[in-house]
Amino acid sequence: MSETRAPLLSVKNLSVNYGAIQALKGASLDVYPGEIVSVIGANGAGKSTLMNAIMGDVKRAGGEITIDGHKLPARSYQVVSAGISLSPEGRKLFAPLTVRENLEMGAFPLKERAEVEGQIKRVFALFPRLEERERQYAGTLSGGEQQMLAIGRALMARPRVLLLDEPSLGLAPIIITEIFKELTEINRNLGMTMLIVEQNARKALLLSNRAYVLQTGLITTHGNSQDLIHDPQIEAAYLGGSKKT
Ligand SMILES: Nc1ncnc2c1ncn2[C@@H]1O[C@H](COP(=O)(O)OP(=O)(O)O)[C@@H](O)[C@H]1O
Ligand SMILES: [Mg+2]
Repeated sequence: MSETRAPLLSVKNLSVNYGAIQALKGASLDVYPGEIVSVIGANGAGKSTLMNAIMGDVKRAGGEITIDGHKLPARSYQVVSAGISLSPEGRKLFAPLTVRENLEMGAFPLKERAEVEGQIKRVFALFPRLEERERQYAGTLSGGEQQMLAIGRALMARPRVLLLDEPSLGLAPIIITEIFKELTEINRNLGMTMLIVEQNARKALLLSNRAYVLQTGLITTHGNSQDLIHDPQIEAAYLGGSKKT
């Protein structure tokens, strides 16, 4: 991706503390329009903290986040209105609500009923299985369907940048392949810019254009995903155990 263009999402020197724990120690990354960027890192590296801090769900201790050059607001609902949506780790669906009701919850920045209906149609076109299950309670869906619904709910606000926190977590390999194929299509067909964090580093590197490595709250490496996937140090640290998925 061209570095001469301005980044759509820019995170500079972001730090987050949980009491005495420094979960992010000045992390910086850029996401350019139309690209998929992945952040790989071990359990506890700070990946979810990064996502939640962008979304305004955890307090930032320092740093600056901009979208299209404008300072990102601090509160979660304002962040969504500014054009960033998150499909969170563990999906966090409203289990006693139906598929349709979950999608409607994601649409709160849209003002007109017709806009909401139009966006539901678009999400159903991406995930026909959700349309088949429109009136079913989210809690009764399979893991893969729940992940589709979490992504669909995030798309309902018509984001400019889609954040994905561990979309492969807890899913069978064949379902992970299906979800990642869908993400590729959403990127290609809708031109959707994405930032994805994953413990499944191989999948994330195969999906993304560029990647950052997060290690205990610090970005230690970044580069083209293709280069990183062939980097012996990355291979030894992150790719050894995930060859099959
Ligand atoms: N709510 C919290 N309170 C205290 N510590 C937390 C909280 N959430 C995460 N942490 C700690 O912050 C670090 C980063 O966590 P997290 O961002 O969840 O990592 P990852 O998503 O990469 O697994 C870990 O040491 C974790 O234990
Ligand atoms: Mg996490």
